[in-house]
Amino acid sequence: MSTKPRILVARAIFPDALASLEESFEVKSNQADEVFSTDNLRKELAQVAGALVFGSERIDQNALADAKNLKIVANISVGYNNFDVPAMTTAGVMATNTPDVLTDSTADFGFALMMAAARRITESEHWIRNGQWDKMSIVYNPLGMDLHHTTLGIIGMGRIGQGIAKRGLGFGMNVIYHNRKRLSESDEKACGARYVDKETLLREADHVVLVVPYSAESHHLIGAKEIALMKSTATLVNIARGGIVDDAALAEALKAKKIFAAGLDVYEGEPKVHPELLKLSNVVLAPHIASATEKTRRAMINLAVRNLRAALAGEKPPSLINTELWKK
Ligand code: DGY
Repeated sequence: MSTKPRILVARAIFPDALASLEESFEVKSNQADEVFSTDNLRKELAQVAGALVFGSERIDQNALADAKNLKIVANISVGYNNFDVPAMTTAGVMATNTPDVLTDSTADFGFALMMAAARRITESEHWIRNGQWDKMSIVYNPLGMDLHHTTLGIIGMGRIGQGIAKRGLGFGMNVIYHNRKRLSESDEKACGARYVDKETLLREADHVVLVVPYSAESHHLIGAKEIALMKSTATLVNIARGGIVDDAALAEALKAKKIFAAGLDVYEGEPKVHPELLKLSNVVLAPHIASATEKTRRAMINLAVRNLRAALAGEKPPSLINTELWKK
């Protein structure tokens, strides 16, 4: 019988990363990549000392009910709204995430979605693929909105928000932001960003980007009322989490051309997408891929593995969330 600690890898990962884990651990892997049912996740967690999971695995009291030997669940994601952290702390299970390593790739992608929505890139591609190039007017269609020398409004000014702000400066944009906590003067200076309240941001920005973590307070932070404050020429980008935008209200607003366009990487109830959004040409849709470059996904897995190895070696994981467990 193996004396190696047992771990779970809840979704498919790079084969070489898996092989390296198998040198130190008895690994239950899921290279078939089918999301575990709630019952199966509980059964799997009951048998392991550590687990590597993604946002698709909800770690709560129910999932932990039989997990008597579990010491750590390492999220391969910076956002951790799939964790019920108080329940994990009560169960004595360390929770970790993957900050920093995905900041630049995610900020790049936020910018890419903003550009695609404003300049109608995917919509134009459909014209070509549908053999309609010759039906497009040279002057009138498709006309987009500029990014350069416009106002960029960022809601949520953590690491990724600041990364987007810095990219905006390169485009000559006037950057405004709203955040629960105002940045220090030196951080504001580094981003060239001015703090405003949410309503002012929505009224003044030509392009609004959402980068706030999901919580009960940020649920439907942007709904019909907020969209009504925006310019009819504005774009809205959500690379944060589904549920921060009221997707039904957004679809209505896009249909009625209350705003110009949107770019979405995340959705309420994903992988489902609101059916009305799927019908619209003025929204660019991506399947939650903001951090998906090979370099970054490898860095996220490496950091999650470092967290897991540390916890199972009795050391403090580098990105421990429930730090109170360490002080105990
Ligand atoms: C994150 O890390 O939070 C990204 O959304 C990928 O899940």
